[in-house]
Amino acid sequence: MTNRTVAMMIGLVVAAPAVVAVEQTSAAPASSPAPASTPGPPPSQGDRARDHFKNLQVLGDISPSDFYATMHLIRASLGTTCDHCHDVEHYEADAKPAKLTARRHMQMVIDVNKNVFEGRTVVTCNSCHRGASHPVSVPTVEQGLFPDSTRGAAVTPQELPTPAQILDRYVAAVGGRDALRRLKTRAAEGTWTHMALGITADGHPVAVNRGKVDPFTVTTVGSDGLLVTRMGFDGTTKVEDRAAGKTTVTIQGNHGVAQTGETKGELGPISIASQMLSFGLDRELKLAADAGTFVVADPVELAGRTLNVLTRTLQGGVRERFYFDAADGLLRRRELLRPLLLGDDLIQVDYDDFRAVDGIRVPFTIKTSYLDDNHYGNTIQFSSIRHDVRQNAPGA
Ligand code: HEC
Ligand code: HEC
Repeated sequence: MTNRTVAMMIGLVVAAPAVVAVEQTSAAPASSPAPASTPGPPPSQGDRARDHFKNLQVLGDISPSDFYATMHLIRASLGTTCDHCHDVEHYEADAKPAKLTARRHMQMVIDVNKNVFEGRTVVTCNSCHRGASHPVSVPTVEQGLFPDSTRGAAVTPQELPTPAQILDRYVAAVGGRDALRRLKTRAAEGTWTHMALGITADGHPVAVNRGKVDPFTVTTVGSDGLLVTRMGFDGTTKVEDRAAGKTTVTIQGNHGVAQTGETKGELGPISIASQMLSFGLDRELKLAADAGTFVVADPVELAGRTLNVLTRTLQGGVRERFYFDAADGLLRRRELLRPLLLGDDLIQVDYDDFRAVDGIRVPFTIKTSYLDDNHYGNTIQFSSIRHDVRQNAPGA
């Protein structure tokens, strides 16, 4: 047993601006014992949305920091923009019929979850709307098509791998425990791109660079649990609306601070976990060591791949979902689901372009997407990653 087994808390701040911004909207205190399914924080505790807005009849008790995430959640569920329901010069006005309907449907969702699902947030706007302002009520003929509509085809029950099996396979796919234990430091360079939505020549929406490509360099140094990371926006590209200069993130144990210029911000558990997971030196070993915290869900298909799914609930009721490629064992996607009164706010991180560096497979592209105004997300593209390797791996 060495210090190395105490997972080194290593992360960098590359994605921090967005991650931190999201976390500031997090209402769930880290210490909250509330399970993920508890719909929002209990009323009459702390700052309430009703104290910040003029005309709330349903959402008055939610925390102000949940408010805009909730608006974006319903907006995304209906596949609309804010002005579908609002006169955007006067958000408090009940001028549009859609806003009145939305208010009734909010109450319906709350009631149905309370009366039918024991208060768990199971039914959401998206359960019915699925990206449309008018849900489709009649099934298509195709939905009901089977060779025999009475008896289904015999299904052999599928035996799912255990969390430990999925995670051991992940560690092996990345390069194995010994190779991971030999890592001393990781130095990386790359670009951070804020994406926007564009339209291709044939009319398809695609994510394009919003014109903010921030070059950065990072160094992660692990020493017995302390980790210091620096990210420089070194000014070769003009940065319009983001902090110029350096952001330094220091994470020690469960405590993290991000500093840009004079501005210091505490990192909450979600940010720390995110940084660790995207950039931690031994994130794979840490996840494998945590195998007991995960539950296996049914595999899903994504972009032609079959993915094994592991889920767990973090402090504050935030849930995490990890998607591992059934073919090669690598981690392709991670989702963070933060409980709101009307459903979950989603952050999605996709890992791609895996390349071997010193026998370790590292994703060179990390894309983070959101439901809110950041929804086009950001993409980190590493141009180089270098490792400093121990001669004799401790505890190997
Ligand atoms: C599907 C309809 C719908 C969409 C889309 C929607 N809202 Fe709302 N919004 C509502 C409803 C309904 C309320 C009132 C909730 C209540 O009574 O508790 C509300 C309330 C508000 C308020 C409070 C105004 C006040 O002072 O009383 C603000 C601000 C707001 N929305 C902003 C937004 C923004 C920004 C967006 C887009 C990101 C958005 N909304 C999208 C339905 C919607
Ligand atoms: C149980 C299914 C169901 C759920 C859940 C649901 N809706 Fe609806 N919603 C409908 C149906 C059905 C209609 C269409 C009604 C019609 O055509 O008369 C509709 C219509 C609406 C409309 C009016 C259509 C328009 O012009 O935009 C709004 C706004 C709306 N829903 C908002 C919401 C919001 C916000 C939520 C979540 C808080 C929600 N709904 C949850 C079923 C649902």
